[in-house]
Amino acid sequence: MAKIKVELKDRSYDIIVGSGILDELGENIKDEQLGKKIFIITDPLVNDLYGDKLRSGLKGFTHQTLEVPCGERYKNLKMASSLYDQLVKSAAHRDSVIIALGGGVIGDLAGFVAATYMRGINLIQVPTTLLAQVDAAIGGKTGVNHSRGKNLIGAFYQPKKVYIDIQALSTLPARELRTGLAEVVKYGVIEDADFFKFLEANSHHLNTKAFESPDTLRAALKVWQIIVAESAKIKAKVVAKDETETGLRMILNYGHTIGHAIEALTRYKAYNHGEAVAIGMVAAARIANRMKMINQEAVLRIVNLLEKLGLPIEVKGLSAKKIINALQIDKKVREGKVQFVLPEKIGKVVIRNNLALKTINSVLAEMGCQ
Ligand SMILES: NC(=O)c1ccc[n+]([C@@H]2O[C@H](COP(=O)([O-])OP(=O)(O)OC[C@H]3O[C@@H](n4cnc5c(N)ncnc54)[C@H](O)[C@@H]3O)[C@@H](O)[C@H]2O)c1
Repeated sequence: MAKIKVELKDRSYDIIVGSGILDELGENIKDEQLGKKIFIITDPLVNDLYGDKLRSGLKGFTHQTLEVPCGERYKNLKMASSLYDQLVKSAAHRDSVIIALGGGVIGDLAGFVAATYMRGINLIQVPTTLLAQVDAAIGGKTGVNHSRGKNLIGAFYQPKKVYIDIQALSTLPARELRTGLAEVVKYGVIEDADFFKFLEANSHHLNTKAFESPDTLRAALKVWQIIVAESAKIKAKVVAKDETETGLRMILNYGHTIGHAIEALTRYKAYNHGEAVAIGMVAAARIANRMKMINQEAVLRIVNLLEKLGLPIEVKGLSAKKIINALQIDKKVREGKVQFVLPEKIGKVVIRNNLALKTINSVLAEMGCQ
């Protein structure tokens, strides 16, 4: 089991990473004075898979499970309002605890409800997708979508604990696993060359095939334990230095500038988040190479690793012009300039906002844009 601390003064908390530990959460928090009344917010799919195991370890607590239908389209104010109603009806109070059990959708929605119900009640994140384990559950970004845009309404609200059972990864569909892997690769590029090397050496474990037999599952879970813990460590370190994204935390947006534009243009369907970010990371690396900031060999290593992991490295069905236009309405535009996170080498990135549109355009054309 690994324990990683997110250092945020009086809002510091631990991230626990282990295998098969879901039924030990009750024991883990019993001395922490968080409150004895627990509300588990989850979706029906995750509840069927993991609800009983989590609940079986909550001895000494009262608990109630509130289900939200599966899917991004339920991450909205209407659903938050329905959850508030259920909390009020069940007399949830300041000393109640919300456990968010699920992927990033549940984590963001339940986190937002915890942040706002009675001006904030205790929150424990129990992420069950790779994306949520290495990214969404850590760092305190919570929120819901608005009909005019994703994550437009939200709050920074740190959990009291992030509790990660990597065995949950074994039931994830391949595409969900891959979307999280894009963020994992991102951590290597932005912060840790040795971690990137570890991913290159272990890429054969990083697919759902490894979960199919008990032997390969055991070996794979050992690798996943390292990957999830290392990723969490990097995110925790960045968040601790810049909680509300005024500076350093922006490096976490590597690949996200073009990635978000592609996701929005394809209406979050043709490419999921990780796939779009993978394309964005390739584009940013190639742009950096054009600007003579990074060598060709490093760019190839990024491209090859993403490709080995089954992530896209080219764009299909979009024009460079549309992507560049979409960049202008992204949240990463500051004072009329598009922010780009560009790698200088594997393990180090810088933030730039002086990019020539011509360079972006020609890299996108090279990557398959019409
Ligand atoms: N707060 C942040 O910092 C942050 C960062 C990145 C993304 N996000 C948000 O996260 C969301 C995406 O999260 P996601 O990729 O986890 O998707 P998701 O939450 O939609 O989960 C994907 C699907 O996987 C299912 N699922 C969850 N765990 C499972 C398991 N162990 N086995 C089988 N199926 C399982 C869910 O029921 C769901 O249908 C987006 O809303 C995004 O905005 C937030």
